[in-house]
Amino acid sequence: MRPFAIRNIAALAACAGAVALLFSPDAAAQGTVNALCSTDAGWCETAAAAFTRETGIRVQQAHKGTGEIGAQLRAEAANPKTDIWWGGTGDPFLQAAEQGLLEAYRPAYINDLHDWSVRQYAMSQNMVGGFYTSAIGFGFNTDLLRKKKLREPKCWADLVKPEYRGEIEISHPASSGTAYTIIAGLVQQMGEDAAFDYLKKLHRNVTSYTRSGQAQAPNVAKGEVAIGVSFIFGFERWRYDKFPVRTAAPCEGTGYEVGGIALVKGARNKENAKRYYDWLMSPAGQAIGGQVGSLQSPANKTFKPDARIPSMSDVKLIKYDFEKYGRAAERKRLIDRWTREVESQPR
Ligand code: F6P
Repeated sequence: MRPFAIRNIAALAACAGAVALLFSPDAAAQGTVNALCSTDAGWCETAAAAFTRETGIRVQQAHKGTGEIGAQLRAEAANPKTDIWWGGTGDPFLQAAEQGLLEAYRPAYINDLHDWSVRQYAMSQNMVGGFYTSAIGFGFNTDLLRKKKLREPKCWADLVKPEYRGEIEISHPASSGTAYTIIAGLVQQMGEDAAFDYLKKLHRNVTSYTRSGQAQAPNVAKGEVAIGVSFIFGFERWRYDKFPVRTAAPCEGTGYEVGGIALVKGARNKENAKRYYDWLMSPAGQAIGGQVGSLQSPANKTFKPDARIPSMSDVKLIKYDFEKYGRAAERKRLIDRWTREVESQPR
C-alpha cells in the first residue's frame, strides 16, 4: 500500500505543478510562436531558447532546407500553421512572397540594416527581409587531397577535371537553397547553355547530392569527402576549429546569398511572430550566428560582428539578379532542366 500512496501523492504534486504552470498568468499571457528555420541548426536552436528565456514566449520550431519550405507553406496556405520563417537563402523566400504566402513588414529599425538587406525588403514589397549574406565557394580537406595527390581547386574550371571524379559533394536543388544559389549563379555567370554543359561535366565528379547545403562543411572536415561546394563561411568554421580544411573563392567569380526572414500570411500568433522577428534582427539575435560558428555577415550593422566572418570584399562576386532568379517560374524551370539534363545522367 505504502509505495502506491507515495506514488499517488507524487502524481498529485506533479499535476498541481502542471496546472499551476498552465494557469500561471505569465505563461498564459506570453503564448507561443510557430517558426521554421533554414539556417544552421545550432543558430536555430540557440536563438529559440534565448528568446524564450528573455520573453517567456514558447518557440515551436522546425529546421528544414530552404527549398523545402515553400512547398510546406503552399500546402498550409488555407490554414497556416507557421507564423515566421527565418534563415536560409533568399530566393525561396522571394518565391513565397510572389505566391502570396507572406505578410509585408517593414521594421522601424530598417536604418540599422545594411543596404543589401534593405534592398531585399524593397524588391519584395517588404515581405522578405535580408537576414545575412555570404558567398559560394569550395572547401577541401587538405589531408585527403595530399593523400590522393590532388591539387587544391581554385576555379570552377578545376572542378570538372577528370582527376576529381567521385571527389566532390554538393547539395540537391529541389530541397537545398544553397544548390539553387550555385546553379542560378553559374547560369548568370556562364550563360544558361554553357552553365548546363558545365553542370553535366561536374555531375561526373560528384559523389553525392545532399538534402541541405549545410552538409558539405562537416563532411569535408571529417574527411568523408575531399571537396565540397557550398557557402565558404561554413568550411571556415571548421578551419578555425583546427580541422585540415581550406577554402577557395572561385577565381572566375561566384554567386552569393542574401538570406531571408519573413512573417507568414494569416499567422495565428502574429504579435509573437513580430517580437521574434525583431529579436532575431536585433544585435542579440544576429550575434548568435558568430557565437555558434555560423559565420555569415549579419544584416544588422549596429554591433561588431564576429572577427572570424570571412570578408565578402575578398571574393569576386557576380552581379546576382535576385529579382529574376527569385521568381517561382524561373526556379522551377531551372530545377526541372537540371533534373532532366543533369541528374538523369549516369556518373
Ligand atoms: O546556415 C548555413 C546556410 O548555408 C546558410 O547560409 C544558407 O542560407 C542555408 O544554410 C541554406 O541551407 P539549405 O541549403 O539547406 O537550404
